[in-house]
Amino acid sequence: MSATTRFSAYLVTQNDKGAFQGEVRTDLALDQLPAGELLVRVDYSSINYKDALSATGSPGVTRQYPHIPGIDAAGTVAASASGLFAVGDPVIVTGYRLGMDHWGGFAQYVRVPAEWAVPLPVGLSPVESMRLGTAGFTAALAVDAILSQERHRADGPVLVTGATGGVAMVAIALLAKLGCPVTAVTRKEGPVRGRLRQLGAQEVLAPEALETSDRPMLKERWSGVVDTIGGAGLEYLVKSTAAGGMVTTCGMAAGNRFSSSVFPFILRGVSLAGIDSVNQPAARRVRIWSHLATDWHVDLERICTEIGLDGITGCVREILAGTHVGRTVVKL
Ligand SMILES: NC(=O)c1ccc[n+]([C@@H]2O[C@H](COP(=O)([O-])OP(=O)(O)OC[C@H]3O[C@@H](n4cnc5c(N)ncnc54)[C@H](OP(=O)(O)O)[C@@H]3O)[C@@H](O)[C@H]2O)c1
Repeated sequence: MSATTRFSAYLVTQNDKGAFQGEVRTDLALDQLPAGELLVRVDYSSINYKDALSATGSPGVTRQYPHIPGIDAAGTVAASASGLFAVGDPVIVTGYRLGMDHWGGFAQYVRVPAEWAVPLPVGLSPVESMRLGTAGFTAALAVDAILSQERHRADGPVLVTGATGGVAMVAIALLAKLGCPVTAVTRKEGPVRGRLRQLGAQEVLAPEALETSDRPMLKERWSGVVDTIGGAGLEYLVKSTAAGGMVTTCGMAAGNRFSSSVFPFILRGVSLAGIDSVNQPAARRVRIWSHLATDWHVDLERICTEIGLDGITGCVREILAGTHVGRTVVKL
């Protein structure tokens, strides 16, 4: 393999009118990849909300184009200048700057700093690791935070919002596997609600079914919350969480602001945990991935679609329109 070896990727460029366009390219060369100790031959990537933003020029995610999005990659080390990994090691790369301002996993190769990679744990195949991807890792971080609360099982179901999204669907499957009752909230109607029940949700609600009120605290309903959408509604989730419960927040499709009194926190001991999948230390990444390969292993094939590089543009459109369901894996 030489520096001029060619590979295929989904490259996003900006034209002279400022518009962004993604296309499959087969003529990229290894020496165009950014610096890093590990060259990884990518078998699978996956599509997350952030990839949809990067693929359409969102400056909060990616500033430099041409760019290859893809915040997830699973594959095999093809070259290593690090003592941490050897050629042939199977690895998962997620988070840090991958796919944001560093060319990402929608490509047959990525080159990354060694500390961005974790060994693919025994018990998880490359495709399974990308069915999880950053969405699954994020769901697992949220579940880990909820389980850290002693009273999580005693005081009602765990509420999961944005329920047909990737983070939420993995969270539902994971919580159900761990024996936690789940209430799912989705804006969508129709058969997808049945899929949420099959996945493990005991109850599926429309957002309008959640109580809203100006009162400082509402009836205690949730032992924990996996909120994936953010926005003003987070206020009601906090004030309807049971004493000792844990509310986790990871996304902002519905907005990036909410207001709250301090009452749920100081009178009920409710906690609010921010979930950040990007900058987790290596030891925590390894611990969470190891759970996902063993006692937290969930079969996600039924909520996954597999596409090639040529399917990315359509999937990005669905994600931004809010019509995408579940997880989409990209096979390289
Ligand atoms: N903090 C982190 O480290 C981290 C990591 C991963 C993801 N995230 C964030 O978490 C969120 C979910 O990620 P994902 O990969 O699961 O995304 P996704 O698959 O696109 O799912 C997002 C879901 O949110 C709901 N939704 C979309 N637009 C909405 C709107 N305008 N108002 C209300 N609900 C809306 C939809 O659910 P329904 O139609 O079922 O209601 C949708 O399925 C994203 O904001 C993402 O950026 C953060």
